[in-house]
Amino acid sequence: MSNSGASIEVKNLRKSWGAVEVLSDVNFGIEPGGFLTLLGPSGCGKSTLLRLICGLDEVSGGQILINGADVAGKPAAERNLGMVFQNYALFPHMTIEENISYGLRIRKVPKAEKKKSVDRVAELMALGNLLDRKPGQLSGGQQQRVALARVLVSGRPLVLMDEPLSNLDAKLRVEIRSEIRSLNKKLGITIVYVTHDQSEALSMSDRVVLMNAGVVAQVGTPKELYEHPANTFSATFIGTPPTNILDSLEVAFPADLKIAGGLKLSECLFGIRPESLAFPAEDLDFKVRARVQSIEYEGKVFLIHMRTDAGTAIVVSYSGGSVPDEGEEITVGWNRDATHVFSRSDGKATTLVY
Ligand SMILES: Nc1ncnc2c1ncn2[C@@H]1O[C@H](COP(=O)(O)OP(=O)(O)OP(=O)(O)O)[C@@H](O)[C@H]1O
Ligand SMILES: [Mg+2]
Repeated sequence: MSNSGASIEVKNLRKSWGAVEVLSDVNFGIEPGGFLTLLGPSGCGKSTLLRLICGLDEVSGGQILINGADVAGKPAAERNLGMVFQNYALFPHMTIEENISYGLRIRKVPKAEKKKSVDRVAELMALGNLLDRKPGQLSGGQQQRVALARVLVSGRPLVLMDEPLSNLDAKLRVEIRSEIRSLNKKLGITIVYVTHDQSEALSMSDRVVLMNAGVVAQVGTPKELYEHPANTFSATFIGTPPTNILDSLEVAFPADLKIAGGLKLSECLFGIRPESLAFPAEDLDFKVRARVQSIEYEGKVFLIHMRTDAGTAIVVSYSGGSVPDEGEEITVGWNRDATHVFSRSDGKATTLVY
């Protein structure tokens, strides 16, 4: 099993199918042993990107550097990487042990070394007592773990995974998430992971590439994406419930407020996370009137769905004592340091000056 991952860097990558450009000028990179996630809504180009890295499809332009060498023109077999597809397939006639060690057998890895590798990954993936069974005798989640074990044991320094947890129930998904993450750290393999689930991306990754319609919307650590969304797309894609977006024209704010970069206050949008909204609002910097539409009990908090007088839907994550009634109109507010500011015309983030 390899203990050193490969670095990967994607530069100005483009992909068109006929006249339709599905990836435009994509740039990102991750150091050896890193965990990078491609995140974005359905159809944004995540699988396309993974297939280009893997070598299943040809790029229309740009570079794919693995350990500094451009592999964009090379056949898949020469890229020395492993891939887990969304619809993983195990060999039904082979035992779990044979399935996991398949790649090692093809590469004629000596028997003792092969056994050591398989035992190690089987233990890490909690498959140790299932090695003699056939795939048909395993649950869906166990089969998924075998598919992951098979690629992780292969010794490849770079492993690509396309939504590998999508077939699992919520509890198993969270468990295997952390298994993959700890294998990434223990084995030192570099992982490029595709998901449309933002909470999965935030919890697993060293770096996230957020994509929207074939374009990179933001690249950063999970914390950077959460705390400093680069645009309204990022603000509303990351976090549950998503960031509330309010037009500056419907908000009461301090008279000394200014925006960096020459943008007028009348030209901006404010973004506020549901947990940053509060009431009563007397002492808060920003205020808006809103009517309670419905209230959801979430255990730790209440999610209060409201609508402003101008008709904007907002959600307050509320952990206070007494909950307002449905239909009640109240003033909610937030403080300056919780305010994200975006240009109304292009959605790009800017900053408050005060
Ligand atoms: N072979 C192809 N020919 C033409 N268009 C394609 C082809 N493969 C993908 N596309 C288009 O490219 C775009 C990106 O598809 P892709 O499969 O990469 O999305 P995705 O982000 O993986 O979505 P999902 O989350 O649904 O899997 C889509 O609009 C899709 O229809
Ligand atoms: Mg896909």
